[in-house]
Amino acid sequence: MATRPSSVAWLLCLIAVLAVGALYLSGFGQKRLPVSSGIAVTELGGPFALVNQDGKKVTEKSWPGKYLLLYFGFTHCPDVCPLGLNKIAEAYAALPQDVARQIQPLFITVDPERDTPAELKPYIALFHPKLIGLTGSVQEIEHMTDLFKVYAQKQGGGKDYMVNHSAFTYLLAPKGGLAALFAHDVSAEDMEKQIIAAVKADSLD
Ligand code: NI
Repeated sequence: MATRPSSVAWLLCLIAVLAVGALYLSGFGQKRLPVSSGIAVTELGGPFALVNQDGKKVTEKSWPGKYLLLYFGFTHCPDVCPLGLNKIAEAYAALPQDVARQIQPLFITVDPERDTPAELKPYIALFHPKLIGLTGSVQEIEHMTDLFKVYAQKQGGGKDYMVNHSAFTYLLAPKGGLAALFAHDVSAEDMEKQIIAAVKADSLD
């Protein structure tokens, strides 16, 4: 259907966020993970191989020494993804330069069938010039959502299907492991502060 009302789409996205929020509150994670506890920190992430918005192959080793700031979503998402990506862009832009240059923000699609590199390229450019978009085969994206325990479920048929998905933002440390996890309702200011704290805590290790 070409005329699916955007309010319905928005509602589906919201329901997904609320469902995942409930999961989150029930013990999936903590608002702020202890950076150096070593507990649970290694449970998320791992090796991956995807392509970026220019069709170039990338892996988890493509940004040596950098923290990866990951967000999962899809370019047809009516509201949740734009809000999340705007927030990431705002937090990233507010970081002191010495911290910002250690951070690589990444948008990873949960809709590889529609989100080709050519689709991702103009989309990510809407948010921040440093944002990189990643896609891959259906299997490669499933591997990613497994690695990061991302909920992503197609909803509806035809060309205009939705993808309900969780909306966490992950900060991965350069040495691997989770340095911080942000819920969808975090403010840009809190995200910025927690990124700075995580980077500073690491530099003291
Ligand atoms: Ni979305």
